[in-house]
Amino acid sequence: MSDLEKINSIFKDKINSVKTKEELQSIKTEFFGKNGQITLQFKKLGSLKPEEKKDFASKLNKIKESLSYQIEQKNFAIENQEINKKLQHEKIDVTLPVRPYHHGKIHPVSQVIDEISSIFSEIGFSVAEGPDVESEYNNFTALNTPEEHPARDMHDTFYLEKNKKLLLRTHTSPVQIRTMLNGKPPFKIIVPGRTYRCDSDQTHAPMFHQLEGLHIDKNVTMGHLKGCLDYFIKEFFEVKNVKMRFRPSHFPFTEPSAEVDIGYKIENEKIVIGDGDKWLEILGCGMVHPNVLKNVKVDPKKYQGFAFGMGIDRLAMLKYGINDLRSFFEADYRWLSHFGFDPLDVPTNYRGLSK
Ligand code: PHE
Repeated sequence: MSDLEKINSIFKDKINSVKTKEELQSIKTEFFGKNGQITLQFKKLGSLKPEEKKDFASKLNKIKESLSYQIEQKNFAIENQEINKKLQHEKIDVTLPVRPYHHGKIHPVSQVIDEISSIFSEIGFSVAEGPDVESEYNNFTALNTPEEHPARDMHDTFYLEKNKKLLLRTHTSPVQIRTMLNGKPPFKIIVPGRTYRCDSDQTHAPMFHQLEGLHIDKNVTMGHLKGCLDYFIKEFFEVKNVKMRFRPSHFPFTEPSAEVDIGYKIENEKIVIGDGDKWLEILGCGMVHPNVLKNVKVDPKKYQGFAFGMGIDRLAMLKYGINDLRSFFEADYRWLSHFGFDPLDVPTNYRGLSK
């Protein structure tokens, strides 16, 4: 018997007794591994005389193909057996009653953050984030807010006991500083997040949510700010026209600064955003102060831009007709069942997942 015939017959004996995938794998190694029997025969090819080579190579290839095929078939047979075994043991009783399950709801604040992010992402803003515990420097000093500024007052700010240099951020603006310190202009970001102030009544909670916007580039003007906000308000409230006015205001980190009001009217005891003769304040904004740019090593002679900050909770209240801010954070399941959003039933203007 030639070597090849021997190999073939040893293989036949072995493959017939294989029962598991592990056994099959070891046969595979024995014949096709680095020092496997077939592999060694291939290595032998080089040392043969040319007239023997052709004949041997063709026989070797035939055997190789035949053995590989048998391994494949065996593998298939073992897998089939395993599945059949499983099926016999796992019978499903379709007559059993269904198990009760609770379907979670998306909190209106999370919903609104998703909506806002998707609206701004369409005009090129990306989302940045920062920590709730901030340094006094990022929250105030770098934002051009002097030591004696009333916003730093203990009555407004939660300072951390041990280290007076740390606090719970009073706005999302410190993320402007973090972003600009860590990158190079241009910057075009929005920052949703939790913010804290020592304040509590029907429209103020000690913890609330803000959305910051920052756009810095070579030629960004207040005109761009206005266009950007106009686009946002229309998209968010799903209205074609919206009356908007800029009122002069003051923030240490912007110059000039403005507060923005939008028009609304009351119809059937409900707020309707768009036109009408009433005004509603929705955000603060302005052109980033040159001192802020200097603090983050951005040259104010080359770069400029706008920033804005708005209350997310208030936007959620306005859009979805919720009138007590405190209820947002009481974790009352009945409230959430009523005002929350079904994760499988996204509103029509929510482009985050469905688009
Ligand atoms: N940080 C300001 C606030 O909390 C809002 C704001 C942000 C104003 C950016 C101007 C520019 O009231």
